[in-house]
Amino acid sequence: MANILVTGGAGYIGSHTCIELLNHGHEVVVFDNLSNSRYESLRRVQKITQKHLVFIEGDIRDADHLDQVFQSYSIDAVIHFAGLKAVGESQAMPLHYFDHNIAGSICLFQAMKRANVFHLVFSSSATVYDASNISPLHEEMPTGMPNNNYGYTKLIIEQMLQKLSAADARWSIALLRYFNPVGAHTSGLIGEDPQGIPNNLMPYLTQVAVGRLEQLAVYGDDYDTIDGTGVRDYIHVVDLANAHLCALENRLSTQGCRVWNIGTGQGSSVLQIIHAFEKVTGIKIPYQVAPRRSGDVATSFSDNQRAVQELAWQPQYGLAEMLADSWKWQQQNPSGYSSTQHKYK
Ligand code: NAD
Ligand code: WQD
Repeated sequence: MANILVTGGAGYIGSHTCIELLNHGHEVVVFDNLSNSRYESLRRVQKITQKHLVFIEGDIRDADHLDQVFQSYSIDAVIHFAGLKAVGESQAMPLHYFDHNIAGSICLFQAMKRANVFHLVFSSSATVYDASNISPLHEEMPTGMPNNNYGYTKLIIEQMLQKLSAADARWSIALLRYFNPVGAHTSGLIGEDPQGIPNNLMPYLTQVAVGRLEQLAVYGDDYDTIDGTGVRDYIHVVDLANAHLCALENRLSTQGCRVWNIGTGQGSSVLQIIHAFEKVTGIKIPYQVAPRRSGDVATSFSDNQRAVQELAWQPQYGLAEMLADSWKWQQQNPSGYSSTQHKYK
């Protein structure tokens, strides 16, 4: 069992990963500046697992604070989720994204090196693939120049980590390229809690279903896909969380830098998602077809065989469970975490 530093651990994917880490007997130290999350998620993680974790409110750009953390806890490995992820915002505020994501990551990697911690799992994204690749996307396909600044930061960090491990054999790094994380813990206690109007399909859809938003805009129905709407590889966040455990175990015993796709290998269109959601929940979703969203590709889904074979990881949840769990979380927490504000101090 290991001591794991989880940057961004209060967020959507981080909080679900903390549950799996604690349930597998690891000690967890979360380091998060709460810029896009609340401590409440971690209070609930501890409620679900009946286990304790350490929370430190801090910013990954703060080198002294990171040094203190590495000195205070005997960290074996880092899972690095912390960063900003809103595509539109990244276009309006490039420097802000370069600072948090790129400069913040460099600051973290330097602190790790000073502390002699060389095991790292990094949250990358399928957005780094070149848009001209034909799905299923596999890890050897070329990356491209992402058409937004958020994606660009993921590509740069991936490339830095590949060079870092090539230059210094002590590093052992997993680059996990997530496809489209959705769903929530089956308890309905933790889930995705976007601030403001959601950018992504699933939180938008569940907020329409719960009556917070009026109707869903379907961005384009003239793509070359099964029904003209965009196709994506949705993956249950608990399966994604478990992939971090598998990657961590792999990295604790192997050196180098390796990329893995984390998806189900199945594509679903926007209309398929809407209709499946209606079937699972019995709720009719009002929607209207709108123009294509700039920057969207028609189809993106994974070839996940490398992760299945090398990490002994297998997604367990199908689309119906992803939709049911997204809905359970939204229904039980119509305003997300905002109605419950517990201070951690
Ligand atoms: P999230 O916003 O819920 O979690 C990120 C966490 O990082 C938040 O708790 C936030 O407060 C924290 N944070 C941000 N900047 C920080 C800083 N400078 N110092 C310390 N903490 C900071 O997002 P998520 O969906 O859980 O995503 C986690 C990671 O996975 C991110 O790196 C994201 O880019 C990546 N990713 C997400 C998706 C997705 O669709 N959700 C897909 C691919 C990759
Ligand atoms: C899915 C499909 C939309 C909203 C984004 C980021 C990517 C990654 C995951 C972090 C598309 C359609 C959406 C809506 C719609 N994040 N849609 N109406 O665009 O695949 O990926 O999140 O790494 O980098 O780009 O996900 O959920 O926004 O869209 O019709 O209100 O739903 O056009 O076809 P996307 P998404």
